[in-house]
Amino acid sequence: MIENYNIDDMTFETLVKSFFKGYLPDLKGEYCKAMTWEMQEKFLKQTIHSSLFKKYPGSPKFSRLFFKKLIEYLEPEQEVHDDVYEFLCSIMENNEDSFSYRHYLIDNSLDNIVTIRETKNMVLNGTTGLRTWEAAFMLSDWALCNKKIFLNKSVLELGSGVGFTGITIAKHCDVKSLLMSDFHADVLQTINNNILINFPESRSEHNNELTIYKNKQKDIGVIKLDWNDTETLQNLRPDIILGADIVYDPSIIQPLISVFDYFHSRNKYVDIYIASVIRNADTFNRFLKILEISNFKHTELTFTGNVNIEWDENLLWCLLRINKE
Ligand SMILES: C[S@@+](CC[C@H](N)C(=O)[O-])C[C@H]1O[C@@H](n2cnc3c(N)ncnc32)[C@H](O)[C@@H]1O
Repeated sequence: MIENYNIDDMTFETLVKSFFKGYLPDLKGEYCKAMTWEMQEKFLKQTIHSSLFKKYPGSPKFSRLFFKKLIEYLEPEQEVHDDVYEFLCSIMENNEDSFSYRHYLIDNSLDNIVTIRETKNMVLNGTTGLRTWEAAFMLSDWALCNKKIFLNKSVLELGSGVGFTGITIAKHCDVKSLLMSDFHADVLQTINNNILINFPESRSEHNNELTIYKNKQKDIGVIKLDWNDTETLQNLRPDIILGADIVYDPSIIQPLISVFDYFHSRNKYVDIYIASVIRNADTFNRFLKILEISNFKHTELTFTGNVNIEWDENLLWCLLRINKE
């Protein structure tokens, strides 16, 4: 008797999503039996043969682990598709893993992906800004749960890193403008690249340290802004300031709060939202203390996370709204 095995749409989609999300495959025996040559071909079409992945390939290291695991599952049950082996061979030699593309699923949807070129390294070229940190996912998740706050507002992000938060908010909230900032040259270059990946239709205009990408009704920008150099603060007058994982170095707490003060002096209604994963309680408490001395009030915001974007809620995290009201 020939048995028929099926892989349901949801399990198949989960397998595709796990590849993009950076999780190893988890295929139970019956599903391996159902991953026929045709199903493997369908899987390859939606992953490594998709136009997105071909243009912006993910980390070779992760792809190697994923495809090795996939072969481990499939080999005892199936004839493994030639392209699976071929792809694995093609990335075997590639040890260049300092930068690759990550494809983040917004709302767990394959039709709603933010692609970011970044490294996995915590520090590269002397900066922590070349990868996305967990606080960036948390802040973006919260923002997408609170889109009304951003309606028609001019938003400035401080210490944007590779730009995940700014790009996600620019894509999903009806902001008037969104300006991402940083002070490290490689980081600024990476933000510009990532804007072009996610807003390929935008037209850019350059003006000294400022680049504006005109995109439908929204202006998305990148600017060099150094908390230690007030000259770089320019004539900006944001309604909202955002920052993810920017409270970590005791020496930049005072300059950072001086930046808040500068923008408050230009707009006394400015609201500042700072997302942190607390690694060092002393540094974070020092930040709260200097805020208080500088007459800023802070409110801790709570929300049910992992609504639009996945992040690790088990970390010690804190999201603050800061103003002088
Ligand atoms: C830990 S990373 C966080 C990056 C990003 N917000 C995220 O969460 O993925 C800190 C960022 O702050 C930036 N930064 C540090 N000191 C700065 C300064 N004095 N002026 C402007 N940006 C600074 C770094 O370049 C880096 O991009």
